[in-house]
Amino acid sequence: MKRKPLRIGLVGTGFMGRAHSNAYRKVGNFFDLPYEPVLQAVCARNAENVAAFAAKWGYASTESDWRKLVARSDVDAIDICTPNDTHKDIAIAAAQAGKIVLCEKPLARDAREGAAMVAAVERAKVPNIVWYNYRRVPAVTLAKQLIDEGKLGKVFHYRAVFLQDWTIAASLPQGGAGLWRLDVNAAGSGVTGDLLAHCIDTALWLNGGIASVSAMTETFVKQRMHNLTGKVEPVGIDDACAFLARFGNGSLGIFESTRYARGHKALYTFEINGEHASIAWDLHDLHRLSFFDHRDESKLRGWRSIHVTDGDHPYMGKWWVPGLQIGYEHSFVHQVADFLDGLGKGVAVGPTFAEAQRTQVVCDTVLESARTKAWREVAGA
Ligand SMILES: NC(=O)c1ccc[n+]([C@@H]2O[C@H](COP(=O)([O-])OP(=O)(O)OC[C@H]3O[C@@H](n4cnc5c(N)ncnc54)[C@H](O)[C@@H]3O)[C@@H](O)[C@H]2O)c1
Repeated sequence: MKRKPLRIGLVGTGFMGRAHSNAYRKVGNFFDLPYEPVLQAVCARNAENVAAFAAKWGYASTESDWRKLVARSDVDAIDICTPNDTHKDIAIAAAQAGKIVLCEKPLARDAREGAAMVAAVERAKVPNIVWYNYRRVPAVTLAKQLIDEGKLGKVFHYRAVFLQDWTIAASLPQGGAGLWRLDVNAAGSGVTGDLLAHCIDTALWLNGGIASVSAMTETFVKQRMHNLTGKVEPVGIDDACAFLARFGNGSLGIFESTRYARGHKALYTFEINGEHASIAWDLHDLHRLSFFDHRDESKLRGWRSIHVTDGDHPYMGKWWVPGLQIGYEHSFVHQVADFLDGLGKGVAVGPTFAEAQRTQVVCDTVLESARTKAWREVAGA
């Protein structure tokens, strides 16, 4: 198939800048697609660093102001890999310039910003997507297939946690490079927008809408030195958040996230209990899906650990041979593959901005519930 070029303009050269660049470079080697990503330009504020990044990853040119990148006529798509406080302005400007917009999660710092972004891409009618990449870990996609096939039957429980342990030291500053996640002005919220947003996106995708929530949050370290001002300032983010949820399908949800769970670096797990069967997944063992089916013969009944590497498992037919597993970075390759495939067919591929906005609304409602110490209905659920 002759591939059309899709000229990418990437903003941000950190963790996600690398993950996305890797995906753009690899995708055409493994997937047959109507478009080929072209690494046209990369943007970050420090000209020296951005030049080094461009040389390493193969970008043809650099910019140090995202406005200049958005204004370029030789760029088709803007990919936003910068801290959360920049998403809205870049996405809206990109949509107004008629660019395709790919935006990192969370969509924005809050639902008000998110709504403006959704309005901008819809008004401009530009293809758009948000990088909730865990949907495209093959084991998670397999979970979706099993649920959609009715293998679980009626769902009773959805349980998810996302645990880390990197902000426990009270001496850790907030703000600036590497630590913007601790600065509420840059991040919007703490673990709710950063980690629970992933859990919520997966949950909405697998189990449908959340109708109401009851949450508690805590900020364990109340003040930290701010890297940008040099002053000790109050900490405005939630260090930990736990919430109960009622889903529209009648099932009960329980979600927990913290950056204060010693020993856990990125423990994202979920378990779903249905009438006939249960499913469990663990990011630390991401290529496996645990499945228990009550309909199995009783003497053989038990949890099975499916090694999601066979050709008939989602995405796996594009990689190696059965038994050989893939990893974290491949979820981004899969997202690019699906997005480019959708672009060729003229169909929207999720999570679109509008879909990611539903996660944003749940996040805002969780924080509102924690503030008011009351159950809250999720608007538009
Ligand atoms: N999908 C995921 O699993 C996942 C994982 C990590 C981060 N993220 C999201 O990706 C985004 C970036 O996170 P990260 O971990 O890559 O951060 P990072 O700190 O590693 O990198 C951020 C980059 O943005 C650049 N930057 C900041 N402000 C800028 C501006 N005004 N103009 C141009 N460049 C600017 C920085 O120089 C840096 O290169 C965040 O929204 C985050 O929530 C998503």
